[in-house]
Amino acid sequence: MRIGVLTAGGDCPGLNAVIRSVVHRAVVGHGDEVIGFEDGFKGLLDGHHRPLDINAVSGILARGGTILGSARMERARLHEAAENAQELATRYGIDALIPIGGEGTLTAARMLSDAGMPVVGVPKTIDNDISSTDRTFGFDTAVMVATEAIDRLKTTAESHQRVMVVEVMGRHAGWIALESGMAGGAHGICLPERPFEVDALVKMVEERFARGKKFAVICVAEGAHPAEGSMPYEKGAIDQYGHERFAGIGNRLAVELEHRLGKEARPVILGHVQRGGVPTAYDRVLATRFGWHAVEAVHRGDFGNMTALRGTDIVMAPLAHAVTELKTVPDDRMYEAESVF
Ligand code: F6P
Repeated sequence: MRIGVLTAGGDCPGLNAVIRSVVHRAVVGHGDEVIGFEDGFKGLLDGHHRPLDINAVSGILARGGTILGSARMERARLHEAAENAQELATRYGIDALIPIGGEGTLTAARMLSDAGMPVVGVPKTIDNDISSTDRTFGFDTAVMVATEAIDRLKTTAESHQRVMVVEVMGRHAGWIALESGMAGGAHGICLPERPFEVDALVKMVEERFARGKKFAVICVAEGAHPAEGSMPYEKGAIDQYGHERFAGIGNRLAVELEHRLGKEARPVILGHVQRGGVPTAYDRVLATRFGWHAVEAVHRGDFGNMTALRGTDIVMAPLAHAVTELKTVPDDRMYEAESVF
């Protein structure tokens, strides 16, 4: 068999572990040939690909990023790929395509599959918000990075008697904020799933200082937003058109808290540091298992599905279900973390 593999969308630690695992299982396990398309679906459309043998994937298990490159792609070009799905499979002589990616990539994978290309998807995102799988690789690494940041920020916050506002990734789902906030013992956690009350955060910090504690750390997801009217002191910058523009929530909340508490507050925007660098052991194992099972699915002719973790098992889930709704943090998980505001 000849199998194509590509990585698309935002990168995430563990992508190389999947690529390596696909090549090992396909080439060594089944005697297949594997080609890697460069920069996601762009490589598929523009004919940029290279053979992937055992040597090509040697030494990449622990490497962050993706050796194939990745890109987000405009919808129009994805439709172009879907319209030419069968012709593309014939052009490259591939019996199957394994696209590794998040929501957008899995949507594209489904379009290609519906148009007749044999596809097995592999889900990835540091956000952990794909509903058909209990976990995505990359998430554990992102949580570890954010947790370490919170640990480190506590000591400098205490030295200066400051409030630190750590903004972590997660536009629509607050899993990284929830779990790093819990693991790091953040005093406040704000999630996109529930508007937070700034009054309550102010009260919590005041009570901490009244108890003799000299600092506080708030972990806020980038997609979190305050309850309406709860940030009265906040002022955005006036842009060239005279419109008020607000910076990210981490910056905005730090300004608001400093004003209301009369104490120094500092924003720390973790950003892409959460997506870079070596994957944790957990992410390497999950990524490796996904790669192995994707190749097995190809050999069973189990197309139109993606690998998924259910409990401790890897199962196949329809691509059609993967992209219908995002997996957000449910209320009962919020209650377990007492510091969610
Ligand atoms: O979906 C993964 C993610 O890292 C989000 O957490 C974040 O909001 C977004 O991608 C950032 O995208 P970009 O790399 O395009 O800035």
